[in-house]
Amino acid sequence: MTKNVFIETYGCQMNEYDSELVRSILKKENYQIVTDETEADVVMLNTCTVRENADRKVMNRVHEIKNRRKNDPVLVGVLGCMATNFKTKLLEDPGLKIDFIAGPDSYKQLPKLIEEVSHSGDKTFDVTLSEFETYSDITPTRDDGVNAWIAIMRGCNNFCTFCVVPYTRGRERSRTPDSVIQEVRRLVDAGFSQVTLLGQNVNSYRHDDTDFADLMAMVSDVPGVKRIRFTSPHPKDFPTKLLKLMAERPNICKQIHLPLQAGNTRVLDKMNRTYTKEEFLDLVDHIRATIPGVSLSTDIIVGFPTETAEEFDDTADVVRRVRFDTAFIFKYSERPNTLAARRLKDDVTEDEKTRRIVILNEIQRAISLEKNQAHVGRIEEILIEQESTKKSEDDYQGRTDSNRIVIVPKGSYKVGDFVTVEITEATTNVLKGRPV
Ligand code: SAH
Ligand code: SF4
Ligand code: F3S
Repeated sequence: MTKNVFIETYGCQMNEYDSELVRSILKKENYQIVTDETEADVVMLNTCTVRENADRKVMNRVHEIKNRRKNDPVLVGVLGCMATNFKTKLLEDPGLKIDFIAGPDSYKQLPKLIEEVSHSGDKTFDVTLSEFETYSDITPTRDDGVNAWIAIMRGCNNFCTFCVVPYTRGRERSRTPDSVIQEVRRLVDAGFSQVTLLGQNVNSYRHDDTDFADLMAMVSDVPGVKRIRFTSPHPKDFPTKLLKLMAERPNICKQIHLPLQAGNTRVLDKMNRTYTKEEFLDLVDHIRATIPGVSLSTDIIVGFPTETAEEFDDTADVVRRVRFDTAFIFKYSERPNTLAARRLKDDVTEDEKTRRIVILNEIQRAISLEKNQAHVGRIEEILIEQESTKKSEDDYQGRTDSNRIVIVPKGSYKVGDFVTVEITEATTNVLKGRPV
């Protein structure tokens, strides 16, 4: 008998990609993927555990699903990073009625796990991490669109002291260049014009003698690939060779996510980030000198254990000096198992974390607005991605090469079109444009 499966995804793009892999694995085994949770026999939550509030969201969802379906039982599975982080503790918690769990390297076991639990009623799990699994033999079931994610490597060896990812996703491993290029070719044939290469540490990709820059060059050479992006990189892996390639190739977007995390050298050292404040600023200068007009975004954590108010001022200083296009700013959240949790007390008060995040967000919002306003009057090429999420049915939303969202009137365009527009208005988060 076929079973209906519903998958809900939390967290980063890697999880979005993994959910596509899971759909593909289950479809091959005669499961049906449904988009309405109430029609499902099995509900799976592909989870994130990077901050505490990510955990909480999922716990609440499990309760909600089980309570709503009291008279119409449903199997609930937890996939992803919570599965490997909490392991069987998730199944032991009597308040949490989870039926099975599967970590990021165990998705090929899902059909077996679901069969077992539905026959015996006994909870099942597989949370082993693999040094080899890259799923390169599975073609993800993607929704039609303009962008396709491709995971080129998985795992992380950096062990930043605040971060749980190395524990939830295991060691770094890279796919063969050949399997990546084959997939890119298939994607172009299927009509995707943009590919985004993914990895927890994407620019530390290496397979034999092929490094990340080599792979980017190969992807860029595939006919029909109009835009290439990548995420998430680490500042330690930006050799000049990669920056030059980005500058030279028109189909590699001039956009880099460069996670700062903190602007103070002592705090960076405690975080095990492997660069100083000055080295980060020098890298930014080098990137900007090599790729003129490049746009830069970042991630920042405020209130890392022992961070003083003066040390935080260094972060504000870097934000003012670099003038990132956008920044994602988080309050430090202690994660079990991490080195920071084991060695350092979470000693910055909630109020002080709030004070710091408010200050940084204010600085950054002003910069983002100024940078966006500087685009007004410019001519830009955008790729139309979807209906505008701003509730106007008359508009589309597209993106510039530099990853800025632009709202344009629909006219006779369609999703996937490249349109040349004049930028007419700017706010902190979006631009408006008029086709020319
Ligand atoms: N591999 C990705 C990390 C994903 S986590 C990368 O290195 O970019 C995304 C962001 O969450 C991190 O860049 C960091 O800013 C933030 N983050 C990670 N652990 C955190 C923690 N314990 N508390 C608060 N923010 C955290
Ligand atoms: Fe969440 Fe990080 Fe895992 Fe992505 S890699 S799902 S952000 S914990
Ligand atoms: Fe790895 Fe990113 Fe953490 S590179 S150690 S996951 S911040």
